[in-house]
Amino acid sequence: MKDRLVIRGGKALQGEVRVSGSKNSAVAVLAAALLCDGVCIVENLPMIEDVCILKAMMEALGAQVELREGAVHVDATGVCCHHAPLELVRQMRASNYLIGALLGRLGKAQVGIPGGCDIGTRPMDLHEKGLRALGANIRLSRGEYVCVANQLTGAEIYLDQASVGASINIMLAACKAKGRTTIVNAAREPHVVDVANFLNSMGASIKGAGTDTIRINGVPRLHGSTYSILPDMIETGTWMAIAAATQGDITIRDCVPYHMESVSAKLMEMGMYVEEGEDYLRVKGTGRPHAISISTMYYPGFPTDLQQPFAVLLSVADGSSVITENIYESRYKYIDELRRMGAKVRVVDRIAMIDGVDALWGTAVSATDLRAGAALIVAGLMADGTTTISNVKYIDRGYERIEKKLQVLGADITRITE
Ligand code: EPZ
Repeated sequence: MKDRLVIRGGKALQGEVRVSGSKNSAVAVLAAALLCDGVCIVENLPMIEDVCILKAMMEALGAQVELREGAVHVDATGVCCHHAPLELVRQMRASNYLIGALLGRLGKAQVGIPGGCDIGTRPMDLHEKGLRALGANIRLSRGEYVCVANQLTGAEIYLDQASVGASINIMLAACKAKGRTTIVNAAREPHVVDVANFLNSMGASIKGAGTDTIRINGVPRLHGSTYSILPDMIETGTWMAIAAATQGDITIRDCVPYHMESVSAKLMEMGMYVEEGEDYLRVKGTGRPHAISISTMYYPGFPTDLQQPFAVLLSVADGSSVITENIYESRYKYIDELRRMGAKVRVVDRIAMIDGVDALWGTAVSATDLRAGAALIVAGLMADGTTTISNVKYIDRGYERIEKKLQVLGADITRITE
């Protein structure tokens, strides 16, 4: 089924929007639920494509997974299979969490090289380094990681890069390892903390999540738990960009303003109005954005996943802006699509130089990955005329009912299913 989004731009979006649960927490927490031989209830789960794919993989491994409005009931008692279905694994990056979870639960795992957005090579060397340090034997055979660990044993692991995925995967495998594991130069992203909190609610012993050193004392078993996951900080940042881009006034409910400090700071540098509450953010567009520079960094720096939507905002700034993408080596594939809408952007390696134009114009464009799709929605909402976005499947992987939330805010957007 090929869906397209049709947007008639130029409307200032007004009103309130509620942020869904974090995609990048949801996929890791679901995988972590496989570690216990009991029932977990995960609340505030976003109903997105990646959750559906992971549900199918978990069921293939022997878990019972029941989606009820916004929550999932996982009965992992019957998990007995260690071989994840290859055709599902290759659809998302988070499939790699099944390696750590299955090693921790069964002592073995067979999981294909994961898929994921085409934004760089997406290596797995730090995952392999950490899991091998815990005693796992890992070899790549016909495109699948074949992993065995008779006894996982705690170790000190230094991550050459503060990899979110490697930090989480090592945590999953280390929870029931014998002894203590220390992850040095760990990722500090909020969803790493979310996964650690979920594991601790199951009886794990993890300290230091959210800092660059995470300590895990292995425990013999984990029990079921009920847990509610964090709001999605990247969805939050996308709404912030949309409010600024459309000269609108949007209150973003059920978010964590503290997680958005770098994003709020950049919007204020652009001259936008940002109001922070306990669990909401209000962003108002105040005219043409000022040209600024943005460098993507690991948390708490500016998130790489918001580089694309913010580049769109800067494409109509009152001068020349510079974006440096420090996390991925090729996260500018969407720029060609933006050029079709009139953006003036030069890309040299990891640097995008953006000369602000007065306005973008609507035309037919295609999403090249999840956050590129979000960026094209931002572009369509502020462009003159009509924009048609194809490859909406990428957008559905990470945003729950995006057009419905936009319609409530006054956007003229419709989904056409061919
Ligand atoms: C997670 O990907 C997110 N995905 C990504 O979000 C996000 O962009 C990324 O973290 C950074 O925040 C999920 O959580 C499912 P990394 P992940 O390991 O874990 C290098 C989205 O749009 N690296 O932190 O794959 C890697 O090449 C997606 O929601 C190695 O060199 O990211 C990159 O340069 C896109 N070796 C850097 O580390 C490894 O073994 C950060 O990658 C692993 C990573």
